[in-house]
Amino acid sequence: MKNPVGVCEVFILVMLVPFMSSVNGIGANWGTQCSHPLPPETVVRLLVDNGIQKVKLFDADYGALRALSKSGIEVMVGIPNDMLATMAGSMKSAEKWVSKNISDHLSNSVNIKYVAVGNEPFLSTYNGSFLRTLYPALTNIQAALVKAGLGAKVKVTVPQNADVYESSTSAPSSGDFRTDIHDYMFQITKFLNDNGSPFTVNIYPFISLYIDSNFPVEYAFFDGQGTPVNDGGTTYTNMFDANYDTLVWALQKNGFPNMGIIVGEIGWPSDGDRNANNEYAQRFMQGFMTHIAQGKGTPMRQGPIDAYLFSLIDEDQKSIQPGNFERHWGVFYYDGQPKYRLNLGTTTAGALVPARNVRYLQRKWCVLKDSVKMDDPSIAQSVSYACALGDCTSLGYGTSCGDLDAKQNISYAVNSYYQINNQLDEACKFPNVSTVTKDDPSTGTCRFGIMIEQYYAGADRRLGSGGLLAGLVLLLLTVL
Ligand SMILES: *[C@@H]1O[C@H](CO)[C@@H](O)[C@H](O)[C@H]1NC(C)=O
Ligand SMILES: *[C@@H]1O[C@H](CO)[C@@H](O)[C@H](O)[C@H]1NC(C)=O
Ligand SMILES: *[C@@H]1O[C@H](CO)[C@@H](O)[C@H](O)[C@H]1NC(C)=O
Ligand SMILES: *[C@@H]1O[C@H](CO)[C@@H](O)[C@H](O)[C@H]1NC(C)=O
Repeated sequence: MKNPVGVCEVFILVMLVPFMSSVNGIGANWGTQCSHPLPPETVVRLLVDNGIQKVKLFDADYGALRALSKSGIEVMVGIPNDMLATMAGSMKSAEKWVSKNISDHLSNSVNIKYVAVGNEPFLSTYNGSFLRTLYPALTNIQAALVKAGLGAKVKVTVPQNADVYESSTSAPSSGDFRTDIHDYMFQITKFLNDNGSPFTVNIYPFISLYIDSNFPVEYAFFDGQGTPVNDGGTTYTNMFDANYDTLVWALQKNGFPNMGIIVGEIGWPSDGDRNANNEYAQRFMQGFMTHIAQGKGTPMRQGPIDAYLFSLIDEDQKSIQPGNFERHWGVFYYDGQPKYRLNLGTTTAGALVPARNVRYLQRKWCVLKDSVKMDDPSIAQSVSYACALGDCTSLGYGTSCGDLDAKQNISYAVNSYYQINNQLDEACKFPNVSTVTKDDPSTGTCRFGIMIEQYYAGADRRLGSGGLLAGLVLLLLTVL
Protein backbone atom coordinates (compact mmCIF):
# COMPACT_ATOMS: atom_id res chain seq x y z
CA MET A 1 0.00 0.00 0.00
CA LYS A 2 3.04 2.25 -0.07
CA ASN A 3 2.62 3.12 -3.67
CA PRO A 4 -1.08 3.07 -4.53
CA VAL A 5 -0.49 4.95 -7.78
CA GLY A 6 1.86 2.25 -9.01
CA VAL A 7 -0.55 -0.50 -8.05
CA CYS A 8 -3.30 1.32 -9.85
CA GLU A 9 -1.25 1.71 -13.02
CA VAL A 10 -0.44 -1.98 -13.10
CA PHE A 11 -4.12 -2.73 -12.60
CA ILE A 12 -5.12 -0.47 -15.50
CA LEU A 13 -2.50 -1.99 -17.77
CA VAL A 14 -3.59 -5.51 -16.97
CA MET A 15 -7.18 -4.54 -17.67
CA LEU A 16 -6.52 -2.66 -20.90
CA VAL A 17 -4.22 -5.00 -22.76
CA PRO A 18 -6.81 -7.70 -23.34
CA PHE A 19 -9.42 -5.06 -24.27
CA MET A 20 -7.30 -3.78 -27.12
CA SER A 21 -6.66 -7.20 -28.57
CA SER A 22 -10.34 -7.87 -29.30
CA VAL A 23 -12.54 -5.32 -31.01
CA ASN A 24 -15.97 -6.42 -29.93
CA GLY A 25 -15.25 -8.11 -26.63
CA ILE A 26 -17.85 -10.15 -24.82
CA GLY A 27 -21.00 -8.97 -23.09
CA ALA A 28 -23.19 -10.49 -20.38
CA ASN A 29 -26.83 -10.35 -19.38
CA TRP A 30 -27.36 -9.05 -15.86
CA GLY A 31 -30.75 -10.19 -14.59
CA THR A 32 -32.02 -9.30 -11.14
CA GLN A 33 -34.77 -11.83 -10.40
CA CYS A 34 -32.95 -12.99 -7.27
CA SER A 35 -34.09 -13.36 -3.67
CA HIS A 36 -30.63 -12.15 -2.63
CA PRO A 37 -28.99 -10.13 -5.39
CA LEU A 38 -25.33 -9.26 -4.94
CA PRO A 39 -24.88 -5.51 -4.35
CA PRO A 40 -24.70 -3.75 -7.75
CA GLU A 41 -21.21 -2.41 -6.96
CA THR A 42 -20.04 -6.01 -6.42
CA VAL A 43 -21.51 -7.06 -9.77
CA VAL A 44 -19.89 -4.16 -11.63
CA ARG A 45 -16.57 -5.08 -10.03
CA LEU A 46 -17.15 -8.67 -11.13
CA LEU A 47 -17.74 -7.50 -14.72
CA VAL A 48 -14.60 -5.36 -14.69
CA ASP A 49 -12.45 -8.07 -13.07
CA ASN A 50 -13.57 -10.50 -15.77
CA GLY A 51 -12.97 -8.09 -18.64
CA ILE A 52 -16.66 -8.11 -19.61
CA GLN A 53 -17.09 -4.84 -21.51
CA LYS A 54 -20.78 -4.89 -22.29
CA VAL A 55 -23.84 -5.55 -20.18
CA LYS A 56 -27.49 -6.05 -21.03
CA LEU A 57 -30.18 -5.16 -18.48
CA PHE A 58 -33.82 -6.29 -18.66
CA ASP A 59 -35.14 -3.04 -17.28
CA ALA A 60 -33.78 0.33 -16.28
CA ASP A 61 -32.73 -0.96 -12.86
CA TYR A 62 -31.71 2.16 -10.99
CA GLY A 63 -29.19 0.51 -8.69
CA ALA A 64 -27.46 -1.29 -11.55
CA LEU A 65 -27.29 1.82 -13.72
CA ARG A 66 -25.96 3.93 -10.87
CA ALA A 67 -23.26 1.37 -10.14
CA LEU A 68 -22.27 1.29 -13.83
CA SER A 69 -21.49 5.01 -13.74
CA LYS A 70 -17.89 5.72 -14.83
CA SER A 71 -17.18 2.01 -15.31
CA GLY A 72 -16.81 2.46 -19.06
CA ILE A 73 -18.93 -0.68 -19.54
CA GLU A 74 -21.24 -0.36 -22.53
CA VAL A 75 -24.89 -0.78 -21.52
CA MET A 76 -28.05 -2.03 -23.23
CA VAL A 77 -31.11 -0.98 -21.19
CA GLY A 78 -34.31 -2.99 -21.60
CA ILE A 79 -37.95 -1.96 -21.64
CA PRO A 80 -39.98 -4.92 -20.30
CA ASN A 81 -42.87 -6.24 -22.39
CA ASP A 82 -45.42 -5.10 -19.83
CA MET A 83 -44.42 -1.48 -20.48
CA LEU A 84 -44.84 -1.71 -24.27
CA ALA A 85 -48.51 -0.70 -24.27
CA THR A 86 -47.70 2.45 -22.29
CA MET A 87 -44.81 3.37 -24.57
CA ALA A 88 -46.96 2.66 -27.62
CA GLY A 89 -49.90 4.62 -26.26
CA SER A 90 -48.32 7.98 -25.66
CA MET A 91 -45.34 9.93 -26.90
CA LYS A 92 -45.21 11.67 -23.52
CA SER A 93 -44.61 8.36 -21.74
CA ALA A 94 -41.83 7.47 -24.15
CA GLU A 95 -40.24 10.87 -23.61
CA LYS A 96 -40.47 10.49 -19.84
CA TRP A 97 -38.94 7.03 -20.03
CA VAL A 98 -36.04 8.28 -22.12
CA SER A 99 -35.50 11.31 -19.91
CA LYS A 100 -35.54 9.40 -16.63
CA ASN A 101 -34.02 6.10 -17.68
CA ILE A 102 -31.54 7.17 -20.37
CA SER A 103 -30.67 10.88 -20.34
CA ASP A 104 -30.30 11.12 -16.56
CA HIS A 105 -27.92 8.15 -16.47
CA LEU A 106 -25.93 9.38 -19.46
CA SER A 107 -25.35 12.64 -17.57
CA ASN A 108 -24.09 10.50 -14.72
CA SER A 109 -21.45 8.89 -16.99
CA VAL A 110 -23.25 5.63 -17.71
CA ASN A 111 -22.15 4.45 -21.15
CA ILE A 112 -25.59 3.57 -22.56
CA LYS A 113 -25.48 2.48 -26.18
CA TYR A 114 -28.72 0.59 -26.81
CA VAL A 115 -32.33 0.49 -25.72
CA ALA A 116 -33.86 -2.97 -26.02
CA VAL A 117 -37.57 -2.44 -26.68
CA GLY A 118 -39.38 -5.50 -25.34
CA ASN A 119 -37.86 -8.90 -24.68
CA GLU A 120 -38.71 -11.75 -27.06
CA PRO A 121 -42.14 -10.08 -27.49
CA PHE A 122 -43.26 -12.49 -30.24
CA LEU A 123 -42.68 -15.63 -28.19
CA SER A 124 -45.58 -17.98 -28.86
CA THR A 125 -46.40 -18.23 -25.12
CA TYR A 126 -47.49 -14.57 -25.27
CA ASN A 127 -50.26 -15.48 -27.75
CA GLY A 128 -49.53 -12.44 -29.90
CA SER A 129 -50.24 -10.01 -27.04
CA PHE A 130 -47.40 -7.70 -28.10
CA LEU A 131 -47.69 -7.93 -31.89
CA ARG A 132 -49.53 -4.64 -32.16
CA THR A 133 -47.85 -2.65 -29.40
CA LEU A 134 -44.23 -3.38 -30.26
CA TYR A 135 -43.96 -1.27 -33.41
CA PRO A 136 -45.56 1.93 -32.05
CA ALA A 137 -43.53 1.53 -28.84
CA LEU A 138 -40.37 1.20 -30.92
CA THR A 139 -41.10 4.25 -33.07
CA ASN A 140 -42.06 6.36 -30.04
CA ILE A 141 -38.86 5.47 -28.17
CA GLN A 142 -36.80 6.19 -31.27
CA ALA A 143 -38.53 9.58 -31.71
CA ALA A 144 -38.00 10.35 -28.02
CA LEU A 145 -34.29 9.54 -28.33
CA VAL A 146 -33.99 11.84 -31.35
CA LYS A 147 -35.86 14.58 -29.52
CA ALA A 148 -33.47 14.22 -26.58
CA GLY A 149 -30.57 14.68 -28.98
CA LEU A 150 -29.50 11.04 -28.61
CA GLY A 151 -30.42 9.73 -32.05
CA ALA A 152 -26.81 9.06 -33.02
CA LYS A 153 -25.53 7.93 -29.62
CA VAL A 154 -28.21 5.51 -28.47
CA LYS A 155 -29.72 2.93 -30.82
CA VAL A 156 -32.95 1.00 -30.41
CA THR A 157 -33.18 -2.74 -30.99
CA VAL A 158 -35.61 -5.60 -30.22
CA PRO A 159 -34.22 -8.81 -28.70
CA GLN A 160 -36.05 -11.58 -30.55
CA ASN A 161 -36.22 -15.29 -29.94
CA ALA A 162 -34.67 -17.24 -32.79
CA ASP A 163 -38.12 -18.69 -33.58
CA VAL A 164 -39.10 -15.46 -35.38
CA TYR A 165 -37.34 -16.91 -38.40
CA GLU A 166 -37.30 -20.39 -39.81
CA SER A 167 -36.02 -22.46 -42.66
CA SER A 168 -38.35 -24.54 -44.78
CA THR A 169 -35.52 -27.05 -45.22
CA SER A 170 -32.74 -27.84 -42.74
CA ALA A 171 -30.47 -25.49 -44.72
CA PRO A 172 -29.81 -21.90 -43.56
CA SER A 173 -30.17 -20.65 -47.15
CA SER A 174 -33.93 -21.31 -46.99
CA GLY A 175 -34.20 -18.88 -44.07
CA ASP A 176 -37.00 -16.32 -43.86
CA PHE A 177 -39.15 -14.66 -41.20
CA ARG A 178 -41.83 -16.98 -39.83
CA THR A 179 -44.85 -16.89 -42.14
CA ASP A 180 -47.47 -16.02 -39.48
CA ILE A 181 -45.55 -12.94 -38.29
CA HIS A 182 -43.76 -12.07 -41.52
CA ASP A 183 -45.36 -8.65 -42.00
CA TYR A 184 -44.71 -7.60 -38.39
CA MET A 185 -41.11 -8.74 -38.64
CA PHE A 186 -40.59 -6.95 -41.93
CA GLN A 187 -42.00 -3.68 -40.58
CA ILE A 188 -39.84 -3.76 -37.45
CA THR A 189 -36.69 -4.86 -39.23
CA LYS A 190 -37.08 -2.16 -41.89
CA PHE A 191 -37.48 0.47 -39.17
CA LEU A 192 -34.39 -0.74 -37.33
CA ASN A 193 -32.40 -0.90 -40.55
CA ASP A 194 -33.51 2.59 -41.64
CA ASN A 195 -32.30 3.95 -38.31
CA GLY A 196 -28.93 2.22 -38.36
CA SER A 197 -30.00 -0.15 -35.58
CA PRO A 198 -28.99 -3.79 -35.27
CA PHE A 199 -31.12 -6.95 -35.25
CA THR A 200 -30.85 -8.70 -31.88
CA VAL A 201 -31.44 -12.43 -31.58
CA ASN A 202 -31.24 -14.97 -28.74
CA ILE A 203 -29.90 -18.36 -29.81
CA TYR A 204 -30.32 -21.47 -27.64
CA PRO A 205 -29.07 -24.88 -28.75
CA PHE A 206 -29.88 -26.11 -25.22
CA ILE A 207 -33.58 -25.38 -25.71
CA SER A 208 -33.55 -27.26 -29.03
CA LEU A 209 -32.18 -30.25 -27.18
CA TYR A 210 -34.62 -29.79 -24.29
CA ILE A 211 -37.76 -29.74 -26.43
CA ASP A 212 -36.66 -32.36 -28.95
CA SER A 213 -35.16 -35.55 -27.58
CA ASN A 214 -34.14 -36.50 -31.15
CA PHE A 215 -32.03 -33.38 -31.53
CA PRO A 216 -28.43 -34.48 -32.30
CA VAL A 217 -26.61 -33.60 -29.05
CA GLU A 218 -23.21 -33.20 -30.70
CA TYR A 219 -24.57 -30.58 -33.11
CA ALA A 220 -25.36 -28.32 -30.12
CA PHE A 221 -21.65 -27.99 -29.33
CA PHE A 222 -18.74 -26.43 -31.19
CA ASP A 223 -16.41 -29.42 -30.99
CA GLY A 224 -19.11 -31.93 -31.83
CA GLN A 225 -18.49 -35.06 -33.85
CA GLY A 226 -21.91 -35.21 -35.44
CA THR A 227 -22.82 -35.26 -39.12
CA PRO A 228 -22.42 -31.79 -40.62
CA VAL A 229 -25.31 -30.08 -42.44
CA ASN A 230 -24.46 -29.41 -46.07
CA ASP A 231 -25.99 -26.24 -47.52
CA GLY A 232 -25.10 -26.08 -51.19
CA GLY A 233 -21.44 -26.80 -50.52
CA THR A 234 -21.20 -24.88 -47.24
CA THR A 235 -20.92 -27.21 -44.29
CA TYR A 236 -22.24 -26.48 -40.84
CA THR A 237 -20.80 -28.39 -37.91
CA ASN A 238 -22.65 -26.58 -35.13
CA MET A 239 -26.16 -25.28 -34.58
CA PHE A 240 -25.07 -21.79 -33.63
CA ASP A 241 -23.51 -21.03 -37.02
CA ALA A 242 -26.44 -22.58 -38.87
CA ASN A 243 -28.99 -20.65 -36.84
CA TYR A 244 -27.11 -17.35 -37.15
CA ASP A 245 -26.80 -17.82 -40.90
CA THR A 246 -30.49 -18.64 -41.21
CA LEU A 247 -31.02 -15.11 -39.87
CA VAL A 248 -28.43 -13.69 -42.27
CA TRP A 249 -30.32 -15.33 -45.16
CA ALA A 250 -33.68 -14.13 -43.84
CA LEU A 251 -32.38 -10.56 -43.61
CA GLN A 252 -30.89 -10.79 -47.08
CA LYS A 253 -34.09 -12.19 -48.57
CA ASN A 254 -36.07 -9.28 -47.14
CA GLY A 255 -33.70 -6.62 -48.42
CA PHE A 256 -31.39 -6.04 -45.40
CA PRO A 257 -28.13 -7.70 -46.44
CA ASN A 258 -25.84 -5.45 -44.41
CA MET A 259 -27.80 -5.14 -41.20
CA GLY A 260 -25.80 -5.55 -38.00
CA ILE A 261 -26.58 -8.57 -35.82
CA ILE A 262 -26.25 -8.81 -32.04
CA VAL A 263 -26.54 -12.14 -30.25
CA GLY A 264 -28.52 -10.85 -27.27
CA GLU A 265 -28.39 -14.11 -25.31
CA ILE A 266 -26.28 -17.22 -25.67
CA GLY A 267 -25.70 -19.76 -22.94
CA TRP A 268 -26.21 -23.15 -21.36
CA PRO A 269 -27.72 -23.82 -17.91
CA SER A 270 -25.84 -25.88 -15.32
CA ASP A 271 -28.63 -27.55 -13.39
CA GLY A 272 -32.30 -28.48 -13.35
CA ASP A 273 -32.31 -30.89 -16.31
CA ARG A 274 -30.41 -33.98 -17.39
CA ASN A 275 -28.66 -31.96 -20.12
CA ALA A 276 -28.01 -29.02 -17.82
CA ASN A 277 -24.82 -29.61 -15.86
CA ASN A 278 -21.44 -27.95 -15.37
CA GLU A 279 -19.76 -30.27 -17.85
CA TYR A 280 -22.08 -29.45 -20.77
CA ALA A 281 -22.29 -25.79 -19.79
CA GLN A 282 -18.50 -25.52 -19.71
CA ARG A 283 -18.18 -27.33 -23.02
CA PHE A 284 -20.70 -25.07 -24.72
CA MET A 285 -19.53 -21.77 -23.25
CA GLN A 286 -15.84 -22.44 -23.80
CA GLY A 287 -16.60 -23.71 -27.27
CA PHE A 288 -18.49 -20.53 -28.06
CA MET A 289 -15.76 -18.24 -26.66
CA THR A 290 -13.05 -20.06 -28.56
CA HIS A 291 -15.18 -19.99 -31.71
CA ILE A 292 -15.75 -16.22 -31.61
CA ALA A 293 -12.21 -15.44 -30.40
CA GLN A 294 -10.92 -16.45 -33.82
CA GLY A 295 -12.87 -13.49 -35.23
CA LYS A 296 -13.83 -15.47 -38.32
CA GLY A 297 -17.57 -15.25 -37.87
CA THR A 298 -19.89 -17.70 -39.60
CA PRO A 299 -19.80 -19.03 -43.19
CA MET A 300 -22.25 -16.27 -44.27
CA ARG A 301 -20.88 -13.43 -42.12
CA GLN A 302 -17.16 -12.99 -41.77
CA GLY A 303 -15.79 -10.93 -38.89
CA PRO A 304 -16.31 -10.54 -35.16
CA ILE A 305 -19.51 -11.70 -33.47
CA ASP A 306 -21.18 -9.33 -31.05
CA ALA A 307 -22.64 -11.39 -28.20
CA TYR A 308 -23.95 -11.27 -24.63
CA LEU A 309 -23.61 -14.36 -22.47
CA PHE A 310 -26.73 -15.61 -20.79
CA SER A 311 -26.23 -15.24 -18.07
CA LEU A 312 -23.88 -13.64 -15.59
CA ILE A 313 -25.37 -14.85 -12.27
CA ASP A 314 -28.07 -17.40 -11.35
CA GLU A 315 -31.49 -15.99 -10.53
CA ASP A 316 -33.42 -18.00 -7.93
CA GLN A 317 -36.73 -16.17 -8.42
CA LYS A 318 -37.14 -16.76 -12.16
CA SER A 319 -40.31 -18.50 -13.24
CA ILE A 320 -39.75 -22.22 -13.75
CA GLN A 321 -42.67 -22.49 -16.12
CA PRO A 322 -40.25 -23.07 -19.05
CA GLY A 323 -38.33 -25.66 -16.97
CA ASN A 324 -36.32 -26.11 -13.75
CA PHE A 325 -33.15 -25.10 -15.59
CA GLU A 326 -34.37 -21.47 -15.74
CA ARG A 327 -32.71 -20.62 -12.42
CA HIS A 328 -29.31 -21.93 -13.46
CA TRP A 329 -28.16 -19.96 -16.49
CA GLY A 330 -25.34 -18.10 -14.74
CA VAL A 331 -21.65 -18.67 -15.38
CA PHE A 332 -21.53 -17.65 -11.70
CA TYR A 333 -23.62 -19.05 -8.84
CA TYR A 334 -25.91 -16.71 -6.86
CA ASP A 335 -22.92 -15.69 -4.72
CA GLY A 336 -20.66 -14.73 -7.62
CA GLN A 337 -18.53 -17.90 -7.44
CA PRO A 338 -17.57 -19.38 -10.83
CA LYS A 339 -19.21 -22.69 -11.68
CA TYR A 340 -16.48 -23.99 -13.96
CA ARG A 341 -13.31 -22.99 -15.69
CA LEU A 342 -14.08 -20.58 -18.52
CA ASN A 343 -11.48 -18.59 -20.43
CA LEU A 344 -13.18 -15.50 -21.82
CA GLY A 345 -9.88 -14.42 -23.34
CA THR A 346 -10.11 -11.16 -21.40
CA THR A 347 -8.01 -11.76 -18.29
CA THR A 348 -4.47 -12.91 -17.63
CA ALA A 349 -5.87 -15.57 -15.29
CA GLY A 350 -7.54 -17.36 -18.21
CA ALA A 351 -10.38 -18.32 -15.88
CA LEU A 352 -13.39 -16.64 -14.32
CA VAL A 353 -12.56 -14.33 -11.41
CA PRO A 354 -14.94 -14.68 -8.42
CA ALA A 355 -16.88 -11.81 -6.86
CA ARG A 356 -15.03 -10.00 -4.10
CA ASN A 357 -15.99 -9.41 -0.48
CA VAL A 358 -19.17 -11.48 -0.60
CA ARG A 359 -20.90 -11.44 2.78
CA TYR A 360 -22.43 -14.77 3.74
CA LEU A 361 -24.82 -15.60 6.55
CA GLN A 362 -23.59 -18.00 9.26
CA ARG A 363 -22.40 -21.51 8.49
CA LYS A 364 -25.59 -23.29 9.45
CA TRP A 365 -28.29 -25.25 7.72
CA CYS A 366 -31.84 -26.41 8.33
CA VAL A 367 -32.17 -30.20 7.97
CA LEU A 368 -34.43 -33.12 8.72
CA LYS A 369 -34.52 -34.17 12.38
CA ASP A 370 -32.95 -37.54 13.15
CA SER A 371 -36.04 -38.54 15.08
CA VAL A 372 -38.39 -37.90 12.19
CA LYS A 373 -40.84 -40.61 11.20
CA MET A 374 -40.97 -40.80 7.43
CA ASP A 375 -44.69 -41.62 7.51
CA ASP A 376 -45.43 -38.42 9.43
CA PRO A 377 -48.11 -36.71 7.33
CA SER A 378 -46.63 -33.25 7.96
CA ILE A 379 -43.56 -34.13 5.88
CA ALA A 380 -45.20 -33.93 2.47
CA GLN A 381 -46.86 -30.67 3.38
CA SER A 382 -43.61 -29.19 4.67
CA VAL A 383 -41.71 -30.17 1.53
CA SER A 384 -44.25 -28.79 -0.87
CA TYR A 385 -44.45 -25.59 1.12
CA ALA A 386 -40.65 -25.24 1.30
CA CYS A 387 -40.24 -25.96 -2.40
CA ALA A 388 -42.97 -23.52 -3.41
CA LEU A 389 -41.30 -20.64 -1.60
CA GLY A 390 -37.71 -21.84 -1.68
CA ASP A 391 -35.93 -23.37 -4.65
CA CYS A 392 -35.94 -27.12 -5.30
CA THR A 393 -34.83 -26.95 -8.94
CA SER A 394 -31.61 -28.82 -8.12
CA LEU A 395 -33.65 -31.88 -7.09
CA GLY A 396 -34.90 -34.43 -9.58
CA TYR A 397 -33.59 -36.74 -12.27
CA GLY A 398 -30.18 -35.84 -13.69
CA THR A 399 -29.69 -32.71 -11.55
CA SER A 400 -26.83 -31.79 -9.17
CA CYS A 401 -28.82 -33.17 -6.20
CA GLY A 402 -30.54 -35.95 -8.13
CA ASP A 403 -28.72 -38.66 -6.15
CA LEU A 404 -30.04 -37.65 -2.74
CA ASP A 405 -32.13 -40.16 -0.81
CA ALA A 406 -35.63 -39.31 0.40
CA LYS A 407 -34.40 -37.90 3.74
CA GLN A 408 -31.69 -35.76 2.18
CA ASN A 409 -34.27 -34.53 -0.30
CA ILE A 410 -36.40 -33.18 2.52
CA SER A 411 -33.37 -31.56 4.14
CA TYR A 412 -32.55 -29.89 0.87
CA ALA A 413 -36.05 -28.47 0.59
CA VAL A 414 -36.32 -27.12 4.12
CA ASN A 415 -32.80 -25.71 3.96
CA SER A 416 -33.58 -23.85 0.77
CA TYR A 417 -36.57 -22.23 2.48
CA TYR A 418 -34.49 -21.44 5.57
CA GLN A 419 -31.67 -19.80 3.62
CA ILE A 420 -34.00 -17.76 1.43
CA ASN A 421 -35.55 -16.50 4.67
CA ASN A 422 -32.17 -15.31 5.93
CA GLN A 423 -31.74 -18.22 8.39
CA LEU A 424 -34.41 -16.88 10.69
CA ASP A 425 -35.18 -19.37 13.48
CA GLU A 426 -38.87 -19.31 12.58
CA ALA A 427 -38.01 -20.50 9.06
CA CYS A 428 -36.72 -23.83 10.38
CA LYS A 429 -39.77 -24.68 12.46
CA PHE A 430 -41.44 -27.21 10.24
CA PRO A 431 -43.41 -29.15 12.85
CA ASN A 432 -41.73 -32.44 13.86
CA VAL A 433 -39.57 -32.22 10.75
CA SER A 434 -36.66 -29.81 10.91
CA THR A 435 -33.74 -28.71 13.05
CA VAL A 436 -30.72 -26.42 12.64
CA THR A 437 -27.24 -27.94 12.24
CA LYS A 438 -23.70 -26.65 11.83
CA ASP A 439 -22.56 -29.72 9.87
CA ASP A 440 -22.55 -29.05 6.14
CA PRO A 441 -25.01 -31.55 4.59
CA SER A 442 -23.53 -31.08 1.07
CA THR A 443 -22.57 -34.29 -0.74
CA GLY A 444 -20.81 -34.87 -4.07
CA THR A 445 -22.17 -32.44 -6.64
CA CYS A 446 -25.03 -31.37 -4.36
CA ARG A 447 -24.37 -28.04 -2.74
CA PHE A 448 -26.50 -27.08 0.28
CA GLY A 449 -26.12 -23.35 -0.03
CA ILE A 450 -25.51 -20.76 2.63
CA MET A 451 -27.29 -17.60 1.67
CA ILE A 452 -25.59 -14.25 1.25
CA GLU A 453 -26.61 -11.19 3.22
CA GLN A 454 -29.71 -9.43 2.01
CA TYR A 455 -28.98 -6.33 0.00
CA TYR A 456 -31.56 -3.58 0.26
CA ALA A 457 -31.60 -1.18 -2.65
CA GLY A 458 -32.83 1.79 -0.64
CA ALA A 459 -36.19 2.99 -1.92
CA ASP A 460 -36.37 0.14 -4.41
CA ARG A 461 -36.70 -2.34 -1.55
CA ARG A 462 -37.94 -5.78 -2.40
CA LEU A 463 -40.50 -7.81 -0.53
CA GLY A 464 -38.59 -8.91 2.54
CA SER A 465 -39.00 -12.20 4.32
CA GLY A 466 -41.99 -10.92 6.29
CA GLY A 467 -44.53 -12.14 3.76
CA LEU A 468 -43.02 -15.60 3.48
CA LEU A 469 -42.74 -16.08 7.22
CA ALA A 470 -46.35 -15.15 7.78
CA GLY A 471 -47.02 -18.08 5.42
CA LEU A 472 -45.03 -20.55 7.49
CA VAL A 473 -46.92 -19.47 10.59
CA LEU A 474 -50.12 -20.24 8.69
CA LEU A 475 -48.76 -23.63 7.65
CA LEU A 476 -47.89 -24.37 11.28
CA LEU A 477 -51.43 -23.50 12.25
CA THR A 478 -52.98 -25.76 9.60
CA VAL A 479 -50.70 -28.66 10.48
CA LEU A 480 -51.12 -28.34 14.23
C1 LIG B 1 -37.87 3.77 -15.75
O1 LIG B 1 -37.64 2.37 -15.73
C2 LIG B 1 -38.16 1.71 -14.59
C3 LIG B 1 -37.66 0.28 -14.61
O2 LIG B 1 -37.98 -0.38 -15.81
C4 LIG B 1 -39.67 1.84 -14.60
O3 LIG B 1 -40.22 1.20 -13.47
C5 LIG B 1 -40.04 3.31 -14.60
O4 LIG B 1 -41.44 3.44 -14.73
C6 LIG B 1 -39.37 4.04 -15.76
N1 LIG B 1 -39.60 5.48 -15.62
C7 LIG B 1 -40.38 6.17 -16.48
C8 LIG B 1 -40.51 7.63 -16.20
O5 LIG B 1 -40.93 5.65 -17.43
C1 LIG C 1 -52.12 -17.83 -23.90
O1 LIG C 1 -53.19 -18.72 -24.17
C2 LIG C 1 -53.24 -19.83 -23.30
C3 LIG C 1 -54.29 -20.78 -23.78
O2 LIG C 1 -55.39 -20.09 -24.32
C4 LIG C 1 -53.50 -19.32 -21.88
O3 LIG C 1 -53.53 -20.38 -20.97
C5 LIG C 1 -52.38 -18.35 -21.49
O4 LIG C 1 -52.66 -17.78 -20.22
C6 LIG C 1 -52.24 -17.24 -22.51
N1 LIG C 1 -51.07 -16.45 -22.18
C7 LIG C 1 -51.05 -15.13 -22.24
C8 LIG C 1 -49.77 -14.47 -21.88
O5 LIG C 1 -52.01 -14.45 -22.57
C1 LIG D 1 -36.30 -36.13 -4.42
O1 LIG D 1 -37.11 -35.05 -4.89
C2 LIG D 1 -37.29 -34.99 -6.28
C3 LIG D 1 -38.04 -33.72 -6.61
O2 LIG D 1 -39.16 -33.54 -5.81
C4 LIG D 1 -37.98 -36.25 -6.78
O3 LIG D 1 -38.09 -36.20 -8.19
C5 LIG D 1 -37.15 -37.44 -6.36
O4 LIG D 1 -37.83 -38.62 -6.73
C6 LIG D 1 -36.91 -37.45 -4.87
N1 LIG D 1 -36.01 -38.54 -4.52
C7 LIG D 1 -36.29 -39.38 -3.52
C8 LIG D 1 -35.30 -40.48 -3.30
O5 LIG D 1 -37.27 -39.28 -2.82
C1 LIG E 1 -45.39 -34.58 16.19
O1 LIG E 1 -44.98 -35.74 16.83
C2 LIG E 1 -45.74 -36.06 18.00
C3 LIG E 1 -45.08 -37.25 18.70
O2 LIG E 1 -44.76 -38.26 17.77
C4 LIG E 1 -47.17 -36.32 17.61
O3 LIG E 1 -47.95 -36.58 18.73
C5 LIG E 1 -47.73 -35.09 16.90
O4 LIG E 1 -49.01 -35.34 16.39
C6 LIG E 1 -46.83 -34.71 15.75
N1 LIG E 1 -47.28 -33.44 15.18
C7 LIG E 1 -47.52 -33.28 13.88
C8 LIG E 1 -47.94 -31.91 13.47
O5 LIG E 1 -47.39 -34.16 13.05
